[in-house]
Amino acid sequence: MDAIVIKGNGPMKGVTHASGAKNAALPILASSLLAEGEHLYRNVPDLADVSTMLKVLRTMGCEADWSAEKHEVHIRVPKQVLPEAPYELVKTMRASVLVLGPLAARHGRARVSMPGGCAIGARPIDQHLKGLKALGAQIELTEGYVEAKAERLIGARLGFDLITVTGTENVMMAAALAKGRTLIENAAREPEIEELARVLNKMGAKISGAGTDLISIEGVDGLKPVDHAIIPDRIEAGTLLVAAAITGGDVLVKDAVPEHLEALIFKLREAGCTVTPEGGGIRCRGPARVKAIDIKTQEHPGFPTDMQAQVMALMTTAEGASVITENIFENRYMHVAELRRMGADITVDGAVAVVRGQPKLSGAPVMATDLRASASLVLAGLRAEGKTTVGRVYHLDRGYEHLERKLMSLGADIQRVKG
Ligand code: EPZ
Repeated sequence: MDAIVIKGNGPMKGVTHASGAKNAALPILASSLLAEGEHLYRNVPDLADVSTMLKVLRTMGCEADWSAEKHEVHIRVPKQVLPEAPYELVKTMRASVLVLGPLAARHGRARVSMPGGCAIGARPIDQHLKGLKALGAQIELTEGYVEAKAERLIGARLGFDLITVTGTENVMMAAALAKGRTLIENAAREPEIEELARVLNKMGAKISGAGTDLISIEGVDGLKPVDHAIIPDRIEAGTLLVAAAITGGDVLVKDAVPEHLEALIFKLREAGCTVTPEGGGIRCRGPARVKAIDIKTQEHPGFPTDMQAQVMALMTTAEGASVITENIFENRYMHVAELRRMGADITVDGAVAVVRGQPKLSGAPVMATDLRASASLVLAGLRAEGKTTVGRVYHLDRGYEHLERKLMSLGADIQRVKG
């Protein structure tokens, strides 16, 4: 297993860029199942999760030609697919459940392994199933698999009991080919939902309201393949902004979209950073030492849970104590024990973590446990005195495209060690 070794050596300075958004690419790739023919997706990030989704599509009989240098993938979807997503793949990436809606809608049948829990929480899919049932799908759970059957899905008015990003995406994709109109109430409002609706509408769907909590879909009889360039990754961009903030640096992240990161930008400014839109991206200048701030994660447009671990790392050397409340996932503090090994003073009580800022961190061997926790440890290593070795960086590779290269280009003393 590879590791990343970092030696704290002062401010990050320079220009980098955000790659395509993982959490837009995954539902968009799954949506190819809605339309037979040749799809072309551009600005696709080179990530482990993307290659897992391509494997899922290939097991169904699709062809997928990935070009790393062009960041493009051609997908050929046949008329008939094998509508199954096996446990072996779903257990490595729960976002595989995003094939459920498209398969039920266009192929009338789906057999998708129930995703297990993961490090950050149980992450059930009860709302996904509730939405598909509301559209007329018969759902059975047998031998750890979800079996969905439907002659033709029928549009309906439905509401989620809680806000779910991929749940909204699954139902929106299914409703695109349902007969009649669907209204989704209490829908998630993430930019990735708006991006998926843009792609579906390019394919011929009739979706309005994406990005609000009420999405209206007029079902159509068929969709056509698409050529689409995917939006930049706001969480990767936010992580790179925090790299500037935590090292007192000055970094321009090109392609980052300010409107996608308003809550984070507000908090970075509150912590004493200068954050400004510039040259088709966002520039962040960090002070020598940030001020402590309080964070409560919420669904978009609130503070994103996917930035909680990174901002916690930032708070470990802040002036003062910060109170962080994780409201979305029940176990998203796996990075705390590892940050403590680096000298951080953090106490956790249920969903609340109190971070008492210390004058410095010291480098140490630490272990990545999940995607954003691993980013948090890399960021802490940039600030820490001495050497930090982050183990199990396969977690990082799921959602960051060569992060160490991007940080190296900003002056970090960082390298990947093959393990
Ligand atoms: C998406 O996960 C993202 N993944 C996550 O990003 C992100 O953290 C999360 O949304 C929240 O913003 C992708 O888009 C591929 P949810 P998702 O359904 O859709 C509960 C990353 O780091 N829930 O919005 O799985 C659930 O347990 C990843 O890039 C149910 O109870 O999240 C959680 O507590 C991590 N029943 C909360 O809702 C359901 O049927 C929000 O989950 C669905 C969800």
